[in-house]
Amino acid sequence: MPISSIAMYAKSNITRYNINELKTFVQFISKLERPAAYNKKTASITITESAYPENTAHDIPYFTEQIKTSPFSDEAKGLGILCLVNSLEPLSYTAKDGQYLRWDIRSQKIIEANAARIASGREPLKVKLDKGNLPTVKTILVEELTKAIDDISYLQRNMPPFSQNVKITFKQASALFELPLLKENTIDGVITSPPYCNRYDYTRIYALELVYLGMDEAAIRKTRQALLSCTVESKSKIDSLRDYYASIGKITDCKKIIEAITNNKALTEVLVALKTRNDNGDINNKGVLKMVKGYFEELAFVYYELYRICKKGACVAFVNDNVRYAGEVIPVDFISTELARHFGFTPLKIYTLRQQKGNSSQQMAKFGRVPLRKSITLWQK
Ligand SMILES: C[S@@+](CC[C@H](N)C(=O)[O-])C[C@H]1O[C@@H](n2cnc3c(N)ncnc32)[C@H](O)[C@@H]1O
Repeated sequence: MPISSIAMYAKSNITRYNINELKTFVQFISKLERPAAYNKKTASITITESAYPENTAHDIPYFTEQIKTSPFSDEAKGLGILCLVNSLEPLSYTAKDGQYLRWDIRSQKIIEANAARIASGREPLKVKLDKGNLPTVKTILVEELTKAIDDISYLQRNMPPFSQNVKITFKQASALFELPLLKENTIDGVITSPPYCNRYDYTRIYALELVYLGMDEAAIRKTRQALLSCTVESKSKIDSLRDYYASIGKITDCKKIIEAITNNKALTEVLVALKTRNDNGDINNKGVLKMVKGYFEELAFVYYELYRICKKGACVAFVNDNVRYAGEVIPVDFISTELARHFGFTPLKIYTLRQQKGNSSQQMAKFGRVPLRKSITLWQK
């Protein structure tokens, strides 16, 4: 997602920031005043409409333009934009909440929805979110930048020598299509956290940020399908992966991966159990079956490619949560480790958090409570 490109640019500049310049940059921001005649408004799509108070909706493009056209270095400007991106949620009437954005009771969206419900004789929505006083763009930017400057100066004073010349290669692309292009036996280690199989839709949760960075409805829908399958709307990528592997001369690899998925007994058992539960009417959304299948299919491609590109001895650490649908526990950590072992990795350890994850109240009422593991799986080539 484009947010990561803003974050990585700011991080990669860690040794280059000039603290004195950054302090002057904060002063510059604190003196900005949007002229009364300025009438541009921040863009929106249906799901982000009226997300900000009126003044904030005008301040966002104004401060963005002022940062981008200021005489400061690219590093300072990049940090300013990152701080603004980080501030969008606190500036808004929304709150990131699992699968969706929650809306403040004062937002136009809720006011209008309730008016329509009352007009048609229905109860108003029971909205509990009230974010209190929202900050102004200027206040929050100054606050964010000041915190960032503290972090940067601490890190600059405490950088281990080896990290001074580290070069970051950042690719804004899907791991599914990027990993197969990397050379084998070249990676020293992997630390990662894929999306969890929990129906969270990053393109909805991060809609404010994506729209701010220039994406429209179509681009967001496209990104939703490009991300690893973890929502009930995700469509299968198997055909496009097969075509892609064929186009890069790696169809044999693709076949091996698909075979491993088909032959994985635990995964097959989970999929059959989910289907039975679905046939019994226990799953409230049929998309869950497709999502779970797609999730492991795609992760299998990632595990296979990681094994191929890792050097011998390299370790791979994955953070993930187990999930449960209609009472069926899906041991993501065990199934993943089994797939990784099949591709050649030696499983070293599955660390689990002492505090396990609870279940939804509907699931507990119907199927009882089964705490779920939150794990870090560690494998070695
Ligand atoms: C659980 S989050 C981990 C975030 C990251 N570890 C961090 O701390 O910022 C999962 C991340 O996977 C990314 N993601 C989803 N599908 C992807 C894909 N196909 N290729 C690469 N990254 C993907 C999402 O954008 C999201 O940032």
